[in-house]
Order: sequence, then C-alpha cells, then structure tokens
Amino acid sequence: MGYYRNKNILITGAFGGFGLCFISELLDKGANLILSDMPKGDSSAPGCAGNLPGICSGRENQILSVIPADLSTAEGCRTLYDEYRKLGISLDMIIHNAGIAFGGEYVDIPPDLNEKVVALNLVSVMRLNTLFLPDLISRKSGHLIYVSSVAGIVATPLGVSYSTSKFGVRAFAMALHGEIRKHGIRTTIVYPFFSKTPILKSRVFGNPKVSFLPGFCASSPGHVVSCTLSGAEKSKLHIRPGFFSKVMWLAVRFYPVISPQREILGYSWKDGMQTREK
Ligand SMILES: NC(=O)c1ccc[n+]([C@@H]2O[C@H](COP(=O)([O-])OP(=O)(O)OC[C@H]3O[C@@H](n4cnc5c(N)ncnc54)[C@H](OP(=O)(O)O)[C@@H]3O)[C@@H](O)[C@H]2O)c1
Repeated sequence: MGYYRNKNILITGAFGGFGLCFISELLDKGANLILSDMPKGDSSAPGCAGNLPGICSGRENQILSVIPADLSTAEGCRTLYDEYRKLGISLDMIIHNAGIAFGGEYVDIPPDLNEKVVALNLVSVMRLNTLFLPDLISRKSGHLIYVSSVAGIVATPLGVSYSTSKFGVRAFAMALHGEIRKHGIRTTIVYPFFSKTPILKSRVFGNPKVSFLPGFCASSPGHVVSCTLSGAEKSKLHIRPGFFSKVMWLAVRFYPVISPQREILGYSWKDGMQTREK
C-alpha cells in the first residue's frame, strides 16, 4: 500500500503554486486532505464557500475540509485547529507550506511587513505544532513536512526577513526532530530554489539592484513537490529538489557565506557593488 494512501493530511497555503501541486499529487496517491489558505474576498476563488480547484473534481470525497484562516495571527492558527477538531478525525501529516515574501532592502520594507513574513513563515509553524503535536505524540505517529527554501541555507540580501524566517523554520524543524523522533514522528524539510509560482511576483520596495534570473533557472513547482513527496516517503530529513538547491547545499559547506556579507580577497566595495581591485 502506498505511503500516502488513506492518510489524513493538512496542507497550508493549499491554493498557491506548490499547494495545488501537493493537492494534485496527494489525491492521485489516495490521501485525504484538509486544505487551508487565506480567506478570500472573491467568492468564486478556491477555498471561498468551500469552492474547490478543478484538480479536485471527481475526487471531492477525498477533501475532508477546506478551512480558510489567516495563519499570520494567533487567532488564525487557533481557528484552523478548532475547525479541524470539529471533524473528529486524526491527523497523520502536516505540510507547512504557507508563505509570503517581500523584496527590497530591509530598511525599505515597512516594519509591519517584515514582521508579517516572520509571523507567517516561522511563528505560524511553531503555533500550529504547539496545537497539533500533542495528539501526534500521544498516537506515536505522524509526519511533519516543512517548506523552507534555499534562502534557509544561504543568507540572502534583499530578502532579509524571508531568509530569517526560512533559516528559522529549518532550525525549528531540526531541533524539534531531535525531540520527537523517539515518538515515531518523522520530519522532512525541503529547500526549493526559485520556482515558477505566484510568490515570484511578490511586492518589491525601494529600488534594489536585482539581476533577474533567467527563466530556465526556475524549477517547475510540480518537480519540487514530486521530489518532496518521494523523499518524505523514504523518510529523508533534508530534500534539495533540483540542481541549484543541491549546488547551494554543497557550496555553503565550502564557502560559509555566499553573498555580499563576505569580503572577498582582491575585491572591494564601490557604489554598493563588490568589484575586483586593480
Ligand atoms: N516559489 C518559489 O520560488 C519558492 C522557493 C522556495 C520556497 N518557497 C516556499 O514555498 C511555499 C509555497 O509558496 P509558493 O511558491 O507556492 O507561493 P504562493 O503561490 O504565493 O503560495 C503561498 C500560499 O500561502 C498563502 N498565504 C499567504 N498569506 C497567508 C496567510 N496570512 N495565511 C495563510 N495562508 C497564506 C497564499 O495565499 P494567497 O494566494 O491568498 O496570498 C498562497 O496560497 C512558501 O513557504 C514559500 O516561501 C517558494
């Protein structure tokens, strides 16, 4: 029997780029899903009044519930948990996937938005585990999947709060893993590189010098999700989906900080850029 078959799985950020791929692949694998995402103003949007995306059609019986909740707040996390409890089922897996990002220099991004990035990408993960974990521990089973990022491996300027949150998720997941593995609970952390989802169109503040990534460097969200689910099935703790994720993972081992924080011998700072000394 497949690893995911008949498992009850909660996906946060369910109607985003990766979320839809998780839904599609997990439905194919026979899982039952609880889907959570931001409450939507548009009444025809997935998640609003129980609307489901087209990929669910014919498989509605596998959707246990759709729970809109703003997870950047403590109340939103509590709402998600309370609504889940009303279903009267046991959860087997959480895919901590909801996330936001803003581009630009730290001081140019409004402070409340920098804080919101950490509140959603990191603090909500902690809050949800506080709520859901005791039941998994008492049942001595479960699997927690965390969507971190290459920005959780390499400290990335022009996305300071995002990188902070993704390093934080990685540290949280690894440290918690050390406590809960004895209860039979598995942990998997995935570190995607840029992938073609709506998050790449996030707001940018100020006028940062950004060199745009050629499209071919961005991975397909379907590939990221397939790697995640196949790696999680094999109980892998860390998953590097795609070439760039693997390269970054190895590179930081040889060159601890790959970014302008590092003064490189033979280079100096001029006009905000690191240039080779004459
Ligand atoms: N795509 C990449 O390049 C990339 C790379 C590395 C890691 N990641 C991570 O992958 C995860 C999924 O992102 P994605 O690429 O699929 O982007 P996405 O399409 O923007 O998906 C993010 C999802 O999170 C939801 N969300 C936003 N604010 C929320 C809130 N306050 N409460 C609950 N849900 C909220 C979004 O809902 P709305 O659409 O309504 O805002 C959306 O469904 C994120 O954690 C992201 O950091 C992405």
